[in-house]
Amino acid sequence: MKRSQINQIIKTADQFMRKHQFYLPPFAYWSANEWKQKGPECAEIVSNGLGWDITDFGSGNFEATGLFLFTLRNGSLSTSPSLTGKQYAEKIMISEPGQRTPMHFHWHKTEDIINRGGGKLVIELYNATPDGLLDQTKVHVSIDGVEKLFDAGEQIVLHPGESITLTPFLYHSFWGSEERVLIGEVSMVNDDETDNRFLDPVGRFPVIAEDEAPLFLLVSDYANYYRG
Ligand SMILES: [Fe+2]
Repeated sequence: MKRSQINQIIKTADQFMRKHQFYLPPFAYWSANEWKQKGPECAEIVSNGLGWDITDFGSGNFEATGLFLFTLRNGSLSTSPSLTGKQYAEKIMISEPGQRTPMHFHWHKTEDIINRGGGKLVIELYNATPDGLLDQTKVHVSIDGVEKLFDAGEQIVLHPGESITLTPFLYHSFWGSEERVLIGEVSMVNDDETDNRFLDPVGRFPVIAEDEAPLFLLVSDYANYYRG
Protein backbone atom coordinates (compact mmCIF):
# COMPACT_ATOMS: atom_id res chain seq x y z
CA MET A 1 0.00 0.00 0.00
CA LYS A 2 1.11 3.57 -0.56
CA ARG A 3 1.68 5.67 2.57
CA SER A 4 -0.56 8.36 1.06
CA GLN A 5 -3.42 5.84 0.87
CA ILE A 6 -2.85 4.78 4.49
CA ASN A 7 -2.83 8.44 5.61
CA GLN A 8 -6.13 9.04 3.82
CA ILE A 9 -7.70 5.92 5.35
CA ILE A 10 -6.65 7.15 8.82
CA LYS A 11 -8.23 10.59 8.20
CA THR A 12 -11.50 9.07 6.96
CA ALA A 13 -11.58 6.55 9.82
CA ASP A 14 -10.89 9.22 12.45
CA GLN A 15 -13.81 11.31 11.18
CA PHE A 16 -16.11 8.26 11.08
CA MET A 17 -15.23 7.25 14.66
CA ARG A 18 -15.80 10.80 15.93
CA LYS A 19 -19.15 10.87 14.12
CA HIS A 20 -20.09 7.80 16.19
CA GLN A 21 -18.64 9.43 19.32
CA PHE A 22 -15.86 6.87 19.60
CA TYR A 23 -12.62 8.58 20.69
CA LEU A 24 -9.06 7.26 20.62
CA PRO A 25 -6.40 7.61 23.34
CA PRO A 26 -3.68 10.31 23.13
CA PHE A 27 -0.96 8.06 21.67
CA ALA A 28 -3.07 7.71 18.51
CA TYR A 29 -2.06 11.27 17.58
CA TRP A 30 1.67 11.29 18.42
CA SER A 31 3.73 12.30 15.39
CA ALA A 32 6.69 10.31 14.04
CA ASN A 33 9.03 12.89 15.60
CA GLU A 34 7.29 12.61 18.97
CA TRP A 35 7.68 8.83 18.81
CA LYS A 36 11.45 9.25 18.39
CA GLN A 37 11.55 11.08 21.75
CA LYS A 38 9.51 8.50 23.70
CA GLY A 39 11.18 6.36 26.33
CA PRO A 40 10.64 3.07 28.21
CA GLU A 41 7.45 4.40 29.85
CA CYS A 42 5.74 3.76 26.50
CA ALA A 43 6.98 0.18 26.06
CA GLU A 44 3.52 -1.33 26.65
CA ILE A 45 2.16 0.40 23.55
CA VAL A 46 4.92 -1.02 21.38
CA SER A 47 5.35 -4.49 22.83
CA ASN A 48 1.60 -5.23 22.98
CA GLY A 49 0.92 -3.80 19.52
CA LEU A 50 -1.42 -0.93 20.40
CA GLY A 51 -2.31 1.62 17.76
CA TRP A 52 -3.17 2.10 14.09
CA ASP A 53 -3.25 -1.03 11.97
CA ILE A 54 -4.36 -0.67 8.37
CA THR A 55 -3.93 -3.71 6.21
CA ASP A 56 -4.74 -5.05 2.77
CA PHE A 57 -3.52 -8.51 3.91
CA GLY A 58 -0.97 -8.29 1.11
CA SER A 59 -3.75 -8.29 -1.50
CA GLY A 60 -2.82 -5.00 -3.16
CA ASN A 61 -6.57 -4.25 -3.18
CA PHE A 62 -7.61 -2.69 0.16
CA GLU A 63 -11.17 -1.98 -1.06
CA ALA A 64 -11.86 -5.68 -1.73
CA THR A 65 -9.66 -7.39 0.87
CA GLY A 66 -8.66 -5.16 3.75
CA LEU A 67 -9.47 -3.89 7.20
CA PHE A 68 -9.00 -0.78 9.28
CA LEU A 69 -8.09 -1.57 12.89
CA PHE A 70 -6.96 0.34 15.95
CA THR A 71 -5.91 -1.68 19.00
CA LEU A 72 -6.85 0.23 22.15
CA ARG A 73 -5.63 -2.23 24.77
CA ASN A 74 -3.93 -5.61 24.85
CA GLY A 75 -1.95 -7.91 27.09
CA SER A 76 0.87 -10.27 26.23
CA LEU A 77 0.74 -14.01 25.66
CA SER A 78 4.05 -14.24 27.54
CA THR A 79 2.39 -13.22 30.84
CA SER A 80 -1.08 -14.53 30.04
CA PRO A 81 -0.57 -18.14 31.28
CA SER A 82 0.35 -16.87 34.76
CA LEU A 83 -2.96 -14.95 34.87
CA THR A 84 -1.09 -11.76 35.69
CA GLY A 85 -1.38 -8.50 33.81
CA LYS A 86 -3.97 -7.79 31.16
CA GLN A 87 -5.88 -10.87 30.07
CA TYR A 88 -7.90 -8.92 27.54
CA ALA A 89 -7.80 -6.81 24.41
CA GLU A 90 -10.02 -4.26 22.70
CA LYS A 91 -10.00 -3.11 19.08
CA ILE A 92 -12.08 -0.80 16.98
CA MET A 93 -12.37 -1.67 13.28
CA ILE A 94 -14.06 -0.36 10.16
CA SER A 95 -15.30 -2.34 7.16
CA GLU A 96 -16.59 -0.81 3.97
CA PRO A 97 -19.45 -2.44 2.05
CA GLY A 98 -18.07 -5.59 0.44
CA GLN A 99 -14.61 -5.16 1.98
CA ARG A 100 -13.69 -8.62 3.24
CA THR A 101 -11.42 -9.74 6.02
CA PRO A 102 -9.90 -13.05 4.82
CA MET A 103 -11.23 -16.29 6.30
CA HIS A 104 -9.26 -17.14 9.47
CA PHE A 105 -9.48 -18.60 12.95
CA HIS A 106 -7.53 -18.16 16.16
CA TRP A 107 -5.80 -20.99 18.01
CA HIS A 108 -6.30 -19.40 21.45
CA LYS A 109 -8.26 -16.16 21.27
CA THR A 110 -11.99 -16.01 21.93
CA GLU A 111 -13.38 -12.72 20.62
CA ASP A 112 -16.65 -10.86 20.60
CA ILE A 113 -17.20 -8.99 17.34
CA ILE A 114 -19.65 -6.13 17.83
CA ASN A 115 -21.54 -3.93 15.41
CA ARG A 116 -20.95 -0.51 17.00
CA GLY A 117 -22.93 1.44 14.41
CA GLY A 118 -23.26 2.47 10.79
CA GLY A 119 -24.18 -0.25 8.30
CA LYS A 120 -24.81 -3.94 8.76
CA LEU A 121 -22.03 -6.40 9.53
CA VAL A 122 -22.07 -9.73 7.68
CA ILE A 123 -20.12 -12.72 9.04
CA GLU A 124 -19.55 -16.11 7.43
CA LEU A 125 -18.57 -18.98 9.73
CA TYR A 126 -17.20 -22.50 9.31
CA ASN A 127 -15.93 -25.02 11.79
CA ALA A 128 -12.33 -26.04 11.05
CA THR A 129 -11.57 -29.63 10.08
CA PRO A 130 -8.69 -31.35 11.97
CA ASP A 131 -6.40 -30.51 9.03
CA GLY A 132 -7.39 -26.83 9.07
CA LEU A 133 -9.85 -26.71 6.16
CA LEU A 134 -13.52 -25.66 6.04
CA ASP A 135 -15.87 -28.17 7.62
CA GLN A 136 -19.46 -28.43 6.33
CA THR A 137 -20.95 -29.19 9.77
CA LYS A 138 -23.37 -26.79 11.43
CA VAL A 139 -21.92 -24.01 13.53
CA HIS A 140 -22.92 -23.28 17.15
CA VAL A 141 -22.41 -19.69 18.27
CA SER A 142 -23.63 -17.27 20.89
CA ILE A 143 -25.19 -14.04 19.65
CA ASP A 144 -25.57 -11.66 22.57
CA GLY A 145 -25.91 -14.50 25.03
CA VAL A 146 -28.37 -16.51 22.92
CA GLU A 147 -27.19 -19.85 21.49
CA LYS A 148 -27.77 -20.18 17.75
CA LEU A 149 -27.16 -22.83 15.12
CA PHE A 150 -26.17 -21.89 11.55
CA ASP A 151 -25.34 -23.76 8.38
CA ALA A 152 -21.68 -23.76 7.34
CA GLY A 153 -20.98 -20.62 5.36
CA GLU A 154 -24.36 -19.07 6.14
CA GLN A 155 -24.25 -15.28 6.08
CA ILE A 156 -25.08 -13.96 9.54
CA VAL A 157 -26.15 -10.30 9.65
CA LEU A 158 -25.43 -8.22 12.76
CA HIS A 159 -27.25 -4.91 13.12
CA PRO A 160 -25.92 -2.01 15.22
CA GLY A 161 -25.72 -3.12 18.85
CA GLU A 162 -25.53 -6.84 18.08
CA SER A 163 -22.47 -8.99 18.70
CA ILE A 164 -21.23 -12.54 18.18
CA THR A 165 -18.80 -14.65 20.18
CA LEU A 166 -16.15 -16.37 18.06
CA THR A 167 -14.38 -19.26 19.75
CA PRO A 168 -11.01 -20.85 18.80
CA PHE A 169 -10.92 -22.97 15.61
CA LEU A 170 -14.05 -21.23 14.29
CA TYR A 171 -13.28 -19.87 10.82
CA HIS A 172 -14.67 -16.37 10.23
CA SER A 173 -14.73 -13.79 7.47
CA PHE A 174 -16.67 -10.53 7.70
CA TRP A 175 -17.51 -7.39 5.75
CA GLY A 176 -19.74 -4.34 5.85
CA SER A 177 -23.05 -4.25 4.06
CA GLU A 178 -24.97 -1.27 2.69
CA GLU A 179 -22.86 1.31 4.55
CA ARG A 180 -19.49 1.68 6.27
CA VAL A 181 -19.69 -0.12 9.62
CA LEU A 182 -17.92 0.54 12.92
CA ILE A 183 -16.92 -2.74 14.54
CA GLY A 184 -15.76 -3.39 18.09
CA GLU A 185 -13.71 -6.33 19.26
CA VAL A 186 -13.47 -7.37 22.91
CA SER A 187 -11.29 -10.42 23.32
CA MET A 188 -8.66 -12.39 25.13
CA VAL A 189 -5.05 -11.30 24.52
CA ASN A 190 -4.33 -10.67 20.82
CA ASP A 191 -1.13 -11.93 19.21
CA ASP A 192 -0.98 -11.38 15.46
CA GLU A 193 2.40 -13.12 15.20
CA THR A 194 1.27 -16.53 16.47
CA ASP A 195 -2.50 -16.77 16.87
CA ASN A 196 -3.94 -16.25 13.36
CA ARG A 197 -4.64 -19.16 11.05
CA PHE A 198 -5.66 -17.88 7.61
CA LEU A 199 -7.30 -20.36 5.27
CA ASP A 200 -5.28 -18.99 2.35
CA PRO A 201 -1.83 -17.54 3.04
CA VAL A 202 -1.88 -13.75 3.48
CA GLY A 203 0.44 -11.03 4.68
CA ARG A 204 -0.98 -9.79 7.98
CA PHE A 205 0.72 -6.39 7.63
CA PRO A 206 0.96 -4.37 4.40
CA VAL A 207 4.07 -3.70 2.39
CA ILE A 208 4.29 0.12 2.34
CA ALA A 209 5.55 2.34 -0.48
CA GLU A 210 6.72 5.58 1.18
CA ASP A 211 5.36 8.25 -1.19
CA GLU A 212 4.75 10.78 1.62
CA ALA A 213 5.48 11.16 5.34
CA PRO A 214 3.33 9.10 7.74
CA LEU A 215 0.48 11.06 9.32
CA PHE A 216 0.64 8.71 12.32
CA LEU A 217 2.67 5.56 12.83
CA LEU A 218 1.18 2.12 12.31
CA VAL A 219 1.92 -0.67 14.77
CA SER A 220 4.25 -2.12 12.14
CA ASP A 221 6.18 1.22 12.00
CA TYR A 222 7.23 1.38 15.67
CA ALA A 223 10.43 -0.60 15.11
CA ASN A 224 11.70 2.13 12.78
CA TYR A 225 10.99 5.09 15.11
CA TYR A 226 10.76 4.03 18.76
CA ARG A 227 14.07 3.66 20.54
CA GLY A 228 12.63 2.97 24.01
FE1 LIG B 1 -10.56 -12.93 14.13
